[in-house]
Amino acid sequence: MSKSILIVGASRGIGLGLAKELVSRGWSVHATERDRSDDLHEAADGTEITVHTADVTEPESYADLGIAEGSLDAILINAGITGAKHQDAAQATADEVAHIMMTNAYGPARMGKALLPLVKDGGTLAFTSSILGSIANSSGGYDLYGTSKAAQNMLAKGIAEKDTGPRDIQVLSLHPGWVQTDMGGSGATLTVDESVTGLADVIEGAGGGGYRYLDYTGEELPF
Ligand SMILES: NC(=O)c1ccc[n+]([C@@H]2O[C@H](COP(=O)([O-])OP(=O)(O)OC[C@H]3O[C@@H](n4cnc5c(N)ncnc54)[C@H](OP(=O)(O)O)[C@@H]3O)[C@@H](O)[C@H]2O)c1
Repeated sequence: MSKSILIVGASRGIGLGLAKELVSRGWSVHATERDRSDDLHEAADGTEITVHTADVTEPESYADLGIAEGSLDAILINAGITGAKHQDAAQATADEVAHIMMTNAYGPARMGKALLPLVKDGGTLAFTSSILGSIANSSGGYDLYGTSKAAQNMLAKGIAEKDTGPRDIQVLSLHPGWVQTDMGGSGATLTVDESVTGLADVIEGAGGGGYRYLDYTGEELPF
């Protein structure tokens, strides 16, 4: 039977690219959009991509995705935003802080926990993180985005410590590299294809329980 994955945030960019990559490798892919993405629907036409609607900040939007319990080999919560342009802790409003923390950290963690029953024992729960979430690697700056991804990593590791152990589900925080998307910009070093080829290899090679923070080449990153 083909392997199956749910990718949350697959309307464009890395999520869309990964949906296409994994379906081309024979995976069955559940992919989410918030609003209709013509690119995702085009990719799903005649393929093993099923499109769902979900918002990572709205639990009721993913309460009943119609995916059977224990049927997924992996979930990737890929949704993310950069946050306010100034990226400055000193300027950030309460709304800006709430928006980025709910979208990049608490929303994904909450969604990951809620959807764990859909994952097979021995499967994978992955989050698209960023190297900017590494506290060990930080040289400051990018206050809003970096802090939200550091918080996401902390929550992901917490899920591995508290929730997934008995079921041998591995929790991953994945840095996709600097990628040419709406978020990464055209000056980024990697094409979507380069990043998602690596991410697909990492997801296909995952397993063994515990928590890992890896980049798209499978290299371990400093927490
Ligand atoms: N590009 C890079 O260089 C880079 C580097 C490190 C990490 N990342 C991470 O990689 C992930 C994907 O980024 P990308 O470069 O592909 O960005 P992107 O092109 O801006 O795509 C972002 C995706 O997240 C979705 N999304 C945003 N808010 C959401 C929400 N509340 N609920 C559900 N989906 C939501 C978007 O959906 P809509 O179309 O509906 O907005 C879109 O599918 C993000 O987590 C990002 O932080 C990217």
